[in-house]
Amino acid sequence: MSKLSMGVQKSVGALGPATPLAVPPILPTTRAKASEQRLDLPDDVTEAEWEQVGLALGRMDSASNWWLGDWYATGERHGFKRLERAAEITGCGRSRISDAYRVATKVPVRTGTLSWNHHLIVAKMDHAAQRNWLAAAATGGLSVRQLRDAIREASTRDRIAKIQPGPGFTITTGDFRTAAVADAVDWIITDPPYPAEFLPLFSDLSAFAARVLKPGGSLVAMVGQSYLPEVMARLGERLAYQWTLAYLTPGGQAVQVWDRKVNTFWKPLLWYVNGEYAGGWIGDVTRSNVNDNDKRFHDWGQSESGMADIIERFTLPGELILDPFSGGHTTGIVAQALGRRYIGIEIDKDLVEVDDGAA
Ligand SMILES: C[S@@+](CC[C@H](N)C(=O)[O-])C[C@H]1O[C@@H](n2cnc3c(N)ncnc32)[C@H](O)[C@@H]1O
Repeated sequence: MSKLSMGVQKSVGALGPATPLAVPPILPTTRAKASEQRLDLPDDVTEAEWEQVGLALGRMDSASNWWLGDWYATGERHGFKRLERAAEITGCGRSRISDAYRVATKVPVRTGTLSWNHHLIVAKMDHAAQRNWLAAAATGGLSVRQLRDAIREASTRDRIAKIQPGPGFTITTGDFRTAAVADAVDWIITDPPYPAEFLPLFSDLSAFAARVLKPGGSLVAMVGQSYLPEVMARLGERLAYQWTLAYLTPGGQAVQVWDRKVNTFWKPLLWYVNGEYAGGWIGDVTRSNVNDNDKRFHDWGQSESGMADIIERFTLPGELILDPFSGGHTTGIVAQALGRRYIGIEIDKDLVEVDDGAA
């Protein structure tokens, strides 16, 4: 047993034996009996009662996140703060404690009619924006999902407004498989969807790249690892394999791949060529900034810092980059900022033609 866990045992012992859960009495019916490791509902429970208890459990879960954040913040004020130790004492994951601490310390407004998760969504905003979004959620009765969607739509609208349309820059709605591309493309830099049902798209991507890339032009694709052999076989149908780069995504917010029991801190960046590569030398490790897990514009969005590293590593100013899975347009935003030309194609029209609310 480690020194730390001995310390934990001692302090628990000092509190005496396990007692019924000392939470505010918010179970809505005395017919539900809760203790620390059990919840009993009567055999003749009604659906309405069952639902009410579920709502109360949700409130307790929300409250426990507030408690956890306040507890950790108090420890910090007293100089007790240490994430490892807090995780060991509570048995909670470090990312849960970090989130709880962030919400407790960065969101001064606590709106009783909203859940802790509503507050988590706005925690990285400035205080004025937090207040506005929480008020909108409370007034509009928005669920967590609805609040997240509303914020993402507003962010996407801002992002699209920032893009300077022009001869060197287009984003169109459509399916890349049938898209007409007038110019010869230097680079396809993209991040296709990873789930199994999208695997056939990698054959289509290979054919598309062979059609639109200049001779010697390259496809650089971020991919997941779960189906890597099949992804590579499909991309190789019409293109020549060149190399695999490591795209590092350092920080505490690793994606957990449950069925493979892996916390991921990197992903493969597959490089294929239409013919033979005749460009310069490339270093094969690329990275995003630490903790730059940016999902403001898309559930599967990539960070601008990581995309900038990739674009600068491979391409030159003035070259034409195409992303056939444009998503929240990270590739395009960065390409434009770095003086590259860009064509984006995205099948989801809500990500391209944002409704500006005008009638
Ligand atoms: C992983 S996301 C791209 C995220 C993007 N890299 C970003 O940072 O926001 C993949 C995108 O491909 C789009 N997509 C899927 N199938 C497509 C198709 N056949 N043609 C064009 N876009 C497609 C999806 O709608 C999704 O937005």
